[in-house]
Amino acid sequence: MNNALLNDTILPIVYMLAAAGFIMAIKWLNSPATARRGVVVGEIGMLLAVVGTLLRFDVVSYQWIFVAFFLGTAIGIPIAYIMPMTAVPQRTAFSHACGALASALIGTAEYYKGIHQGPTVTSVEMTALIIETLLGFLTFTASLMAFGKLQEVLPQRPITYKGQNFLNLGVFAAAAGTGIALIVAPQQTFLFPIFVLLSLLFGVLLIIPIGGADMPTVIALLNSYAGLSAAAMGFVLNNKMLIVAGALDGSSGFILAVIMCRAMNRSFGNVLFGAFGQLQTTTGGKAGDRPVRSASPEEAAQILEAARTVIVIPGYGMAVAQAQHKLKEMSELLAKRGVNVEFAIHPVAGRMPGHMNVLLAEADVPYDKLREMDDINPEMPMADVALIIGANDVVNPGAETDPKSPIAGMPIIQAYKAHTVMVIKRSMNPGFAGIDNELYYMPNTIMLFGDAKAFVSSIVKELGALARV
Ligand code: TAP
Repeated sequence: MNNALLNDTILPIVYMLAAAGFIMAIKWLNSPATARRGVVVGEIGMLLAVVGTLLRFDVVSYQWIFVAFFLGTAIGIPIAYIMPMTAVPQRTAFSHACGALASALIGTAEYYKGIHQGPTVTSVEMTALIIETLLGFLTFTASLMAFGKLQEVLPQRPITYKGQNFLNLGVFAAAAGTGIALIVAPQQTFLFPIFVLLSLLFGVLLIIPIGGADMPTVIALLNSYAGLSAAAMGFVLNNKMLIVAGALDGSSGFILAVIMCRAMNRSFGNVLFGAFGQLQTTTGGKAGDRPVRSASPEEAAQILEAARTVIVIPGYGMAVAQAQHKLKEMSELLAKRGVNVEFAIHPVAGRMPGHMNVLLAEADVPYDKLREMDDINPEMPMADVALIIGANDVVNPGAETDPKSPIAGMPIIQAYKAHTVMVIKRSMNPGFAGIDNELYYMPNTIMLFGDAKAFVSSIVKELGALARV
């Protein structure tokens, strides 16, 4: 096969097929019914892109590529198997850090290569290189910080101090200014390490004031930055596949961040500079000091069995306990006894977008039983029971009723409007945002203390016993 045929005809076709695969993957990932197909098509697209690139004649040596290939595979496969589903957000943050670092290092290598080869770098190429490197390095440290917060090796609460926004914007302006100086005068090599350090520092400073509850939006935003960095890398390396894939990644990450912001009724500015999730000072006493009503699995089963409509609201605790299969069993037993069971899904329930949908789909809960927040909320006052399983922040009425609450304005599933509210959790401890929940003290609320899977299993047993009576 000759050079021209491969580079001018075959590669563009392979890249076009790969890009079509990515676009179809995004489309199909939009619905649980087609998500598996989306994953497969996305993987085929990536395989085509990688194999196509490896066939290029300008690849002079495969030696280091294969070292990286085997090293990455040796690390990636065990991570995929070992990481529990609940750790996917921090794993995603870690992946963004690796991808962004790769992009930034390629930008750095291209800069020094260009400088050594003489004044051949045009200002357009230099602009793309600076954007790639800036976004790459800041996304690297910001993603590592996000990983630390989600893994709880760093404090989850926002850390704020006087003049913080001013300092952050100052560091960003200094990084951008140094970058512009390098575009104008690329041969001023002493500026490059300063530019890199400022970019790395800005990534750290950016995440320090952001609280745990805002991490979904931040992860989506960092995904977008990593994609944009890859797109800029495509311009630097003159690789159309990277431009297309990076632009798709950047735009879909940005759209996801917008969806997350809407789900929490927040603006970008508020997420990035609002220090959401600070310690609450308005709660009326320490959790555990105030009386709550609680019940046994037997009592809970009786209440559920007597209901006509039960709305189940799953949250992070369901994922931790892996209670979805028992929950499905419970809903089938109730359905057999004429109870209508629906599942209410909050967009940020759990720890990753679609977390609850994935787990409930895994347990074969029919898709038409999964109802989105805006769809189910008007039906909540008609529900006999709202059964909350390991959810906390997403049902906290403080978001609606207490303007001083740190989560004021965040849309919630209005479980408190149901006739009876039952909450399965292990203790009175707060959820991810670290704030107390008034719902637990309301007169129509009954606490069901215990591990979600164990408690639902006991309810299933009791329902079985009731069926035999
Ligand atoms: P959370 O507010 O985190 O509450 C989860 C509750 O589950 C906790 O209060 C905990 O109480 C309980 N729990 C934990 N393990 C349990 C177990 N084994 N059995 C029973 N209960 C258990 O969860 P949520 O309501 O789903 O809200 C999600 C939060 O995470 C939001 O603040 C959201 O912003 C944030 N977040 C979301 C994402 C995405 S994209 N979904 C990503 C990162 C962060 P006990 O300890 O008392 O059991």
